[in-house]
Amino acid sequence: MPEAVNTQVLLARRPEGVVRQDDFAIARTPIPAPGAGEVLLRHLFLSLDPYQRGRMSAAKSYAAPVAIGAVMECRAVARVEASNDPALSPGDVVLGAYGWQEWSVAPAKGLMKLDAAEAPVQTALGILGMPGLTAHVGMSDIGQPKRGETVVISAASGAVGAVAGQIAKAAGARVIGIAGGAEKCAYVTGELGFDACLDHRDGDFPQALDAACPDGIDVYWENVGGAVQRAVFPRLRDFARMVMCGMIAEYNDPVPQPGPNLMSAVRKRLRIQGFIVSDSWQRLPEWRAVAVPLIRAGKLRYREDVVSGIENAPAAFIGLLAGKNFGKLLVKVG
Ligand SMILES: NC(=O)c1ccc[n+]([C@@H]2O[C@H](COP(=O)([O-])OP(=O)(O)OC[C@H]3O[C@@H](n4cnc5c(N)ncnc54)[C@H](OP(=O)(O)O)[C@@H]3O)[C@@H](O)[C@H]2O)c1
Repeated sequence: MPEAVNTQVLLARRPEGVVRQDDFAIARTPIPAPGAGEVLLRHLFLSLDPYQRGRMSAAKSYAAPVAIGAVMECRAVARVEASNDPALSPGDVVLGAYGWQEWSVAPAKGLMKLDAAEAPVQTALGILGMPGLTAHVGMSDIGQPKRGETVVISAASGAVGAVAGQIAKAAGARVIGIAGGAEKCAYVTGELGFDACLDHRDGDFPQALDAACPDGIDVYWENVGGAVQRAVFPRLRDFARMVMCGMIAEYNDPVPQPGPNLMSAVRKRLRIQGFIVSDSWQRLPEWRAVAVPLIRAGKLRYREDVVSGIENAPAAFIGLLAGKNFGKLLVKVG
């Protein structure tokens, strides 16, 4: 019988521009042994998220980069295989940050135990985890959509955008999604219930935005930046809110793209506010208490894009940065 090994994905070098397969390396190491107060974890699902592009870069950011030769960073859902802490037992399923690998050891303290009867465990990485909380925090604190307002959501079929738009819709707003391609747009209107969805790859996208938002835009949820932002910004109304969540279209750019002239932010009294979800981790129980009943009632929808096998994580991540994922991107391991 072959000896069990821990397959890991390491950061081999810092990408220059577009991320490439050989920016990563695969390593096979022995399965680690847990020390006092630690548990041995067999990973079930890894979460691939756009912020990991930032961790590959040494540029100044709100978090330290992954070191060259270190395991790529991610949150994961894992099963406890062995425990040196009375708080957790073999068979328990937990959420933590363990990296792009199949096994890890971690201190039991700080792991969140998951209840499969409440929701499928991998939702702790998507709608009931970081991306869902991001949508909840950004919409309630910054977007604050009101009945009858027009809300535009970029990357609308994705992990964050899908939830942000459904929250705005529940608040009574008219919600316009922006997504890449007809299939994603059909999902955004048909399944998520947005009022319309525009394909940002269409040549007439700015004109389509005018037609969908004839009175302008009250809330713009910024997930992508780039050309989409340049089309949306001049169409913001007086007192519009711009929720600065991310700008994935620019994450591979070595030099920032030119942004809009901000004089209209003064003239229109815009509110443009960025946020980072990790400042609001303590609100995860608040979000789960809202979301679980809605999901059960079929009033809050989500979609997962699950790739199998740890070796496929780099290609899936490269695809995420090019819009190839359709829903919350997860890697199933173990
Ligand atoms: N501030 C925070 O705390 C926080 C937390 C979580 C996520 N975020 C940010 O939220 C955004 C969405 O994250 P997510 O996890 O929900 O990812 P996602 O939407 O599930 O996947 C990323 C999507 O971005 C779109 N995209 C990629 N390249 C693009 C381009 N050049 N132009 C336009 N769209 C492009 C693609 O959708 P289309 O095919 O539809 O274009 C792609 O599917 C990211 O910017 C991320 O960094 C921020």
